[in-house]
Amino acid sequence: MQVEQITDLAPYLADLTDILVNTVASGASVGFLPPLERAGAEAYWHGVQAMIDAGTVIQLLAIENGKAYGAVQLAPSSKDNARHRAEVQKLMVAPRSRRHGIGKRLMVALEHTAWELGRTLLILDTRRGDIADGLYGRMGYTRFGIVPAFTIDSDGTSHDTCFFYKHLTPAK
Ligand SMILES: CC(C)(COP(=O)(O)OP(=O)(O)OC[C@H]1O[C@@H](n2cnc3c(N)ncnc32)[C@H](O)[C@@H]1OP(=O)(O)O)[C@@H](O)C(=O)NCCC(=O)NCCS
Repeated sequence: MQVEQITDLAPYLADLTDILVNTVASGASVGFLPPLERAGAEAYWHGVQAMIDAGTVIQLLAIENGKAYGAVQLAPSSKDNARHRAEVQKLMVAPRSRRHGIGKRLMVALEHTAWELGRTLLILDTRRGDIADGLYGRMGYTRFGIVPAFTIDSDGTSHDTCFFYKHLTPAK
């Protein structure tokens, strides 16, 4: 398994569509409400391709034997006074491949990519109490706030969202 920056999603479109559909079906909070149809997931990845082409998103994939098992995005800020900042988005691992260290490897690779680009302040958010909530804390991200009822499920249930930051430092 290796983590690579990918600029052409086409060879991985079916894998990424599966990952997103199954991640949403597993109840994860990644911006969609279940059930997410394949067409909707595919449309999302086409939109990501447009953002990659426009240079507003960097897409990393965890790949083995030509197949994608996980994904994470870095969205560098375009603001004049925030050229050192980027947002981490859409960390997800195929449900059947979880708990094998892929999520952590994606985050380590993403931090390396951010560092190489001079993006030394990373911001992210996640649903309170999710696995990622603990993962980010253990990876050195500082939780700086919780917004109550940030997301709302289709049945009306609301969830709090935690916001994190991390200042990257040179590897020792
Ligand atoms: C969060 C997610 C990416 C983690 O991916 P993963 O490949 O399973 O993670 P890893 O195997 O690298 O494990 C990372 C850590 O989380 C812990 N962990 C993973 N799954 C866990 C679970 N089900 N229960 C408890 N701990 C768990 C691991 O023990 C590991 O702990 P460590 O930091 O002490 O080493 C994955 O669960 C996922 O895709 N979730 C749905 C999408 C999502 O919520 N994304 C975050 C949006 S902000």
